[in-house]
Amino acid sequence: MAETLEDIAARMVTGDKGILAADESTGTITKRFDTIGVESTADTRRDYREMLFRSDEAMRNYISGVILYDETIRQSAADGTPLVDIIAGTGAVPGIKVDTGAKPLALRPNEKITEGLDGLRERLAEYYDLGARFAKWRAVIDIGDKRPTYPCISANAHALARYAALCQEAGIVPIVEPEVLMDGPDASHDIDTNYDITEWVLKTVFMELYFAGVRLEGIVLKPNMVVPGKNAADQASPQAVAEKTVRVLKNCVPTAVPGIAFLSGGQSDEQATEHLSLINDLGPLPWAVTFSYGRALQAAALNAWQGKVENVPAAQRAFLHRARMNSLAAAGSWTPDAEKQAA
Ligand code: 13P
Repeated sequence: MAETLEDIAARMVTGDKGILAADESTGTITKRFDTIGVESTADTRRDYREMLFRSDEAMRNYISGVILYDETIRQSAADGTPLVDIIAGTGAVPGIKVDTGAKPLALRPNEKITEGLDGLRERLAEYYDLGARFAKWRAVIDIGDKRPTYPCISANAHALARYAALCQEAGIVPIVEPEVLMDGPDASHDIDTNYDITEWVLKTVFMELYFAGVRLEGIVLKPNMVVPGKNAADQASPQAVAEKTVRVLKNCVPTAVPGIAFLSGGQSDEQATEHLSLINDLGPLPWAVTFSYGRALQAAALNAWQGKVENVPAAQRAFLHRARMNSLAAAGSWTPDAEKQAA
C-alpha cells in the first residue's frame, strides 16, 4: 500500500535527521562551481551530487530526505545506478523541486512571484513515477524600501497553496517554503522587521492553505529563521534569533503541522547549526524542528572537492561533519566543542 502523506512527512522530519537541499537549478549550481573553478556540465553536476549521495554514513544516520532538481532525478551514477535508487537505499526519501523559479512580479519593482503551476499536475505524476515522495516550492519575499507589498505576499501565498493542494492530490508531501530573504539587494533591515514580515507571510500562507483545502498533517513547512539582513548594522545574538524564531512560529504555525525544516538562507555553516540547536533547546516544541539546508550543508564539501576525484574522501568527510553537527542541532545538543572534533 502507498505510504500516507502523514507517514512520508514523519519520515522527513523525525529521528534527529534533516533534509539535504541539493536542488540547485543549473544556473545556481553553475555559480557554485564557478567559486571553485569547476566547469558545470551534466557529468560534473552528476559526479558532485553522486559524491554526496554516496556518503553512506552521513546519509544513513543524518539525512532523512534529499531535494533533487529535474536533471538530477533523471540521472544515473557513473556505474549506471539511478541516483534516486542510491538515495532510497540509504533510507532517505527522494524529493523534487517543482517550481520553475522566482520571476519579476508585474508592476511591482524588485518583487518576485514564483512560477510553475501550469502543467504541474502532470509533472507531479511523472515525478511520482520517478520515485519522488515529496516536493518543494520556494517563494521569495524581499525586505526593502516599501517592500514587501500586500500583492506580493498574497500572490506568493496563493501559489504556494495551489502547489500544495496539487501535491497532496498526487500523494506527494509538499514542502511549503516562504522565504523572507536575509540576503536580498538591500538586506539592511533589523531583526524585528524580519519578525514582522515573517509573521505577516506565515499568517497569509496558512490562510491560503486553509482556503485551498490542504491537510496540514501532510505538509512540511520550510521557513526562514528570524534574522537581521546580512548588511544590518546591528547583528542579533544567537539567543535572540532562537527566541524570536520560536515566538513567531508559535504565533503562526498550527500544531497539526508535523514538522518544520529551516532553510539556511545565507547564514554561515556554523551559525545555521548553532541557531537550530538553540531553537530546539527552547523546546519542547509542538512540531519536529530540523534542517533543510542547501548551502550550510554543502559549502564545506564543495570546497574540499574542487572537482577532483582524489578529493572525494575529504569532501565526504566534510559533508559527514556538517550533517552530524546539524543532526546534533536538531536534537538541541550541538556544542562548539562538538564542532571542533574532526569528522
Ligand atoms: P539554503 O539552505 O542554501 O538557503 O537552501 C535551501 C533551499 O532549498 C532554498 O530553497
